[in-house]
Amino acid sequence: MRFRTRAIHVGQQADPQTGAVVPPIHLAATYIQPGVGQWGPYDYSRSGNPTRKAFETALADLETGCGALAFSSGMAAIHAAMMLLEPGDHVLASWDLYGGTYRLLRRILSRGRIQASFADSSDLNIFAKAVQPNTKLLWIESPGNPLLSITDIAGCAELAHRCGALLGVDSTFATPVITRPLELGADIVMHSATKYLGGHSDVLGGVLVVRDQKLFEQLYLIQNATGGVMGPLESYLCSRGLKTLELRVREQCRSALLLAQRLTEHPRVRRVYYPGLSDHPGHPIACRQMDGGFGAIVSLELDGSAEQAKRFVQSTRLIQLAVSLGAVESLLELPAFMSHASYEPAERSARGISETLVRLSIGLEDPEDLWEDLVQAFQKAFA
Ligand SMILES: Cc1ncc(COP(=O)(O)O)c(C=O)c1O
Repeated sequence: MRFRTRAIHVGQQADPQTGAVVPPIHLAATYIQPGVGQWGPYDYSRSGNPTRKAFETALADLETGCGALAFSSGMAAIHAAMMLLEPGDHVLASWDLYGGTYRLLRRILSRGRIQASFADSSDLNIFAKAVQPNTKLLWIESPGNPLLSITDIAGCAELAHRCGALLGVDSTFATPVITRPLELGADIVMHSATKYLGGHSDVLGGVLVVRDQKLFEQLYLIQNATGGVMGPLESYLCSRGLKTLELRVREQCRSALLLAQRLTEHPRVRRVYYPGLSDHPGHPIACRQMDGGFGAIVSLELDGSAEQAKRFVQSTRLIQLAVSLGAVESLLELPAFMSHASYEPAERSARGISETLVRLSIGLEDPEDLWEDLVQAFQKAFA
């Protein structure tokens, strides 16, 4: 079956007791056991829950993995993946990285547990040079947040395995609709389900998907032992989100490309970052590894001051000023002050996250309405 059909049917069987087309939400925290020391399919909701399982089964199928584990947030999922490392191990992460992942690695996990460093993964030579003898995990984002850099996932998988490390890919921006990192050799795929998988700005969640059963067991142990699991209501909302994922993402990609093209011609825009534009340095790799779209996040460098950038993001009427992304409603933000505020200022500007960089998450509104909103915001900000 094709992606869209699987997204609706895998793991989502009708309820045999009532015939309900939509499987019920299982809220029970605990399950009756047949006897002491005897286990049914479920015993305690942290260890396993049917509603969570339904979502995990569907997503594992869409990512072509052997199993998925759903967590209470994207950060809980990333933290669980990092817990695979032993004290003294090193993780090498992309330079163009979500601020929360940077903060976890820099400020929490580096406190005597694991070592972390960052390098430009969009250039495999640079990334390879940053590998250390104790590197056990490469962690990349493609497209990266917020500069939309593109990393060659197959090339990175080859590099990781040559060095005896695993490759983890935060694929939140791409979604399994347009990129499936496990098929390109990655070991772990991660999503902030808060974004496209949920898709409606009403659920917080995260997921890890793997293709190796042994790795799945290791991560399951970490999840069950540390407890940051996705709740049943969130799991239900994520399953529901998956059913329209392909339709939403394809349409959002189309609108994003249209708006990115128009923005390149706006006199107040110095640069547009979007992998679908032919002058984006990662465009050839994106054409190879992204299937039928380039994502729906567009970043732009305004030709003006930080004050004008703040006025711009506060002047849109339809596009709302908020962190997060990937939902049906369009959002915009200033990464330097919002999603990437946790970077040390020097490091942030070294990476090109300036105070005039705007990140747009293109939703499902009519793109002409979004364009008119942007045009009037430019007029107000630069009046
Ligand atoms: C690329 C990326 N990874 C991870 C996360 C963290 O996910 P969550 O906010 O669900 O913890 C985010 C959140 O914005 C993100 O954009």
